[in-house]
Amino acid sequence: MGAPLDQIREGLPEFFSHGDKYGRRLPPKKRVPVKDQADQDLLSGSLFTFEGIDGSGKSTQARHIRDFLIRNGHPVTLSREPGGTPLGEAVRTILLSETPPLSPLSELFLFLTDRSQHVEEVIRPGLSSGMTLLVDRFIDATIAYQGYGLGHPLPVLETLNRMILKSIRPKRTFLLDLHPKTAFQRIRKRSGSQNRIEQRGETFFERVRNGYLELARNEPERILVLDATLPEEEITRLITTEIRKFLDLKPIQEAFHGSV
Ligand code: TYD
Repeated sequence: MGAPLDQIREGLPEFFSHGDKYGRRLPPKKRVPVKDQADQDLLSGSLFTFEGIDGSGKSTQARHIRDFLIRNGHPVTLSREPGGTPLGEAVRTILLSETPPLSPLSELFLFLTDRSQHVEEVIRPGLSSGMTLLVDRFIDATIAYQGYGLGHPLPVLETLNRMILKSIRPKRTFLLDLHPKTAFQRIRKRSGSQNRIEQRGETFFERVRNGYLELARNEPERILVLDATLPEEEITRLITTEIRKFLDLKPIQEAFHGSV
């Protein structure tokens, strides 16, 4: 088990050398280390992630895209964070229930526990066998919620995400952008009760939203910002158009819901 230690050592200099005095600046883009590049070559599948604040409609879109790919005969798996593995589902229950109370650090570590398990059990094996994977929330959620939202230092979160992912990179991330006021109206309509995180109120979600938008500004080649107030079908169409650039799909099927 030498590798994890090596990765920790690799991560540490980055940890100490980047970020302003509040530790809130993202580290500059890293070159992929040679051993990670070799690993990347073995991961022939494609990973697409869906992000956005609660109520933005990303889970609905992730399902539409899964259905679209299945209709096109393209093997695909949809999973979510937190969740996605038996351990992850147990962690999800703890994270979203009102009790027990969680310190901000415990919350962070639980999200990372969930991710680490999900990556090793589902994502890495899936990508190695050439699968297309859709993931409802991933690395950017931790930066946006625990970083911009709760105030954990961004360079630390970046390092921890990198330790979990190693060479894995989402091909494209679809960020459904929505004003928190509209998001809250949608959540209230959808269900009477709010989970632990949804209860944090509008200013928390403004920070999360701005965090997501800053991530998108930093990585425009990966993160595509979509206006979540557009009609559902239009958003699906925009995402399928993008996904077609990466996957070898027959040009016959319609992107829209329900069409075969
Ligand atoms: P969920 O009900 O799955 O929300 P949604 O359907 O909107 O995705 O709840 C997941 C919550 O966990 C959501 O509020 C976002 C939050 N979260 C984090 O705070 N950090 C993370 O790293 C992840 C993956 C999720």
